[in-house]
Amino acid sequence: MLNVALVGCGRIAKRHSELLGDGQIKGLRLAAVCDLVEEKARAIGERFDIPFYTDMDRMMQSERIDMVVVLTPTGVHARNVINLARYQKNIVVEKPMALTLDDADSMIQACDENGCRLFVIKQNRFNVPVVKLREAVDAGRFGKYVLGTVRVRWCRHQHYYDQDAWRGTWAMDGGVLTNQASHHVDMLQWMIGDVESVFAKAATALVNIEAEDTIIVTLRFRNGALGIIEATTAVRPVNLEGSISILGEHGSVVIGGIAVNQMQTWAFEQQMEGDDQVLDDYSVNPPNVYGFGHQAYYEHIVDCIDNHKQHLVDGLEARKSLELINAIYESVETGREVYLNFQPRKCPLGRTA
Ligand SMILES: NC(=O)c1ccc[n+]([C@@H]2O[C@H](COP(=O)([O-])OP(=O)(O)OC[C@H]3O[C@@H](n4cnc5c(N)ncnc54)[C@H](O)[C@@H]3O)[C@@H](O)[C@H]2O)c1
Repeated sequence: MLNVALVGCGRIAKRHSELLGDGQIKGLRLAAVCDLVEEKARAIGERFDIPFYTDMDRMMQSERIDMVVVLTPTGVHARNVINLARYQKNIVVEKPMALTLDDADSMIQACDENGCRLFVIKQNRFNVPVVKLREAVDAGRFGKYVLGTVRVRWCRHQHYYDQDAWRGTWAMDGGVLTNQASHHVDMLQWMIGDVESVFAKAATALVNIEAEDTIIVTLRFRNGALGIIEATTAVRPVNLEGSISILGEHGSVVIGGIAVNQMQTWAFEQQMEGDDQVLDDYSVNPPNVYGFGHQAYYEHIVDCIDNHKQHLVDGLEARKSLELINAIYESVETGREVYLNFQPRKCPLGRTA
């Protein structure tokens, strides 16, 4: 049984604390929590009858912790992970791992130097239909890739951004691309492969924030396929869609729903056993846009630790989609097509005012 500590007791900590505190993940137990705001730490601590702290170092020094989960605002992930690496425990960090590539590199280096495994949460990779899609990718069922599209059409009003000062800022969060759509960007690249170039346009349509609430991106992958990312939190009045489509020379798959949770198209030239059941068997209805993936992600972590397996999203893997996100903003700022690998010059992510 591994003792797990949470750093950051805000919105997403509710999901993490329920999974770990209610014993829903075999092999993990919630052992302590910490937040700079005492009431937030106390609320989770008292609910699960565990110690709570306002200082992560005091927590790490006072408790026997095997794994620490960083759930703080994105712009401080790097500082927190680098600090926690000194304790030489497993570290889990929420998506996106960081805002700048320099921060991502420093996190990877700190964890490597201290022998910590760094797990970056991309729970949508574990959605039931997404796992099935990846099976088709691994089996080469698409043949040559033609087009990959992801869409995030969600609704976030001004009051969502006004809850916390960090939301929608370049220094701490970024816009819809970095926050809500980072899962979908990751998924597109995971399915089709490395990206050669991007061209993007962004707008801040319906809310008053620094970063964008709406963005469109065209991509060219290294294997010649084309791609589209369409992401907005300016849909009204409710969330409409979180989807991915993969089109290849021998088949097409579309996963839709509001959270990439419903298999809508599963069509291949060459039929395989079970294909006619896929639409019925690989759709789920999660209670919210976070989906069910966090549970599967934690189970994957336990499996990797127990069985000495390579995990799916380590620091280097998560850095790939962060580089893509940086390249997309570079294109928005310069009005030009941006080729990867690249060094950010105008990308505003992580920039303090
Ligand atoms: N995987 C997902 O689907 C998903 C969903 C929501 C949020 N997230 C990510 O989780 C992170 C947190 O998001 P949130 O919505 O919970 O934010 P939040 O603002 O609700 O919570 C963050 C908490 O961290 C605390 N904090 C900040 N610095 C700290 C420190 N040094 N020590 C201890 N506590 C500290 C804050 O007081 C706050 O309570 C973000 O990176 C976000 O992108 C991921």
